[in-house]
Amino acid sequence: MTSGALKDLRMRPLRDLRVSVIDRCNFRCTYCMPAEVFGPGYAFLPPSALLSFDEMTRLVRLFVSLGVEKVRITGGEPLLRHGLESWIADISGISGLSDIALTTNGVLLAKKARALKEAGLRRVNVSLDSLDPQTFGRMNGRGVSPDIVLRGIEAAREAGLDVKVNMVVKRGENDQDILPMARYFKSLGVTLRFIEYMDVGNTNGWRLDHVVPSREILERIRVEMPLEPVRPNYFGEVAKRYRYVDGTAEIGFISSVTQAFCSTCTRARLSADGKLYTCLFAADGFDLRALLRDGADDTDVLEAIRAIWQGRSDHYSEIRLKATDFRGTGTAGKADGPVGQKKKVEMSYIGG
Ligand code: GTP
Ligand code: 5AD
Ligand code: SF4
Ligand code: SF4
Repeated sequence: MTSGALKDLRMRPLRDLRVSVIDRCNFRCTYCMPAEVFGPGYAFLPPSALLSFDEMTRLVRLFVSLGVEKVRITGGEPLLRHGLESWIADISGISGLSDIALTTNGVLLAKKARALKEAGLRRVNVSLDSLDPQTFGRMNGRGVSPDIVLRGIEAAREAGLDVKVNMVVKRGENDQDILPMARYFKSLGVTLRFIEYMDVGNTNGWRLDHVVPSREILERIRVEMPLEPVRPNYFGEVAKRYRYVDGTAEIGFISSVTQAFCSTCTRARLSADGKLYTCLFAADGFDLRALLRDGADDTDVLEAIRAIWQGRSDHYSEIRLKATDFRGTGTAGKADGPVGQKKKVEMSYIGG
């Protein structure tokens, strides 16, 4: 079998690997790591549990040999992992790996953007949910000002990194910021992506009526700033893209709740302690770290990954969509727990 032909049970190829390099974060976003749950006593992974950079490099190399072309580095907050820049330099030499990207909250970007660029990173996605200090401070759970993130974005652009901004939209929390955010990033020529608030993890108290459907956001923006659709950048691109007709910038929509995109999901996820997950909403992962630390050779590890991908049938968002009374109108139906799955991994652990 040729390595590139690896397909799951729904004929989806393995193309992307999202690597969480740390489960800690300097934010406590209400929709991801609510401070009441992730408090001072929370048991984060001890350093010995984290995959070492060498272990991560080995795994990335093996995944690339199975068809992975893109690695996205996530966390928690990945820039909290010391030495990340040299690891990026290590993996940027792997032949067949054409795209390395990083998702960050931007707080440490001003300090690290240049080193990241020099290490071989080409692009960053920066999370920012509001330009209003009060709203943003409340949502990030730490009172951090949007100015700090904006400075990080500026530094990343100055360093020559391609930057996109991610805004999680939660009704009643920051939906009043949709237009100000759109106007601001349009004026900068930076792509802004709106993310539907998802029921990831077990701690964020997700409710369907907190979701603002992408269609509603699109309508709100296009009344003021006309838009036209843009073709996807790559197969299975998560965001649906639009361009302002005046050519100033693009926006995107990540609509896992109202328009599930499982049918083209090519993503595997590696947690910071080396577990392989085949879905963001999975309950359990396969312990690759145990294999590595037990002295497995490359063939054994490849065989394990291959078997897991070939047995994969995950399509959580599609199931949720079917179980959800949305009727495509933006009217909320029943609240929380549409799929009734009890246990899910936390997004901060698995990296979104
Ligand atoms: P690009 O390579 O720039 O297109 O990045 P990306 O959109 O794949 O990555 P990013 O980390 O910026 O993710 C943006 C949002 O999409 C996050 O909220 C992710 O959790 C969500 N997302 C990414 N992949 C998946 C997925 O497979 N399923 C679901 N439900 N959400 C996803
Ligand atoms: N719903 C939607 N997006 C989320 N993110 C974190 N938690 C959620 C959630 N419950 C986003 C972050 C970041 C990306 C990696 O995931 O804001 O942009
Ligand atoms: Fe917020 Fe990202 Fe940290 Fe989660 S990992 S608390 S979304 S900054
Ligand atoms: Fe992929 Fe699971 Fe997200 Fe569907 S819900 S797109 S299968 S990660």
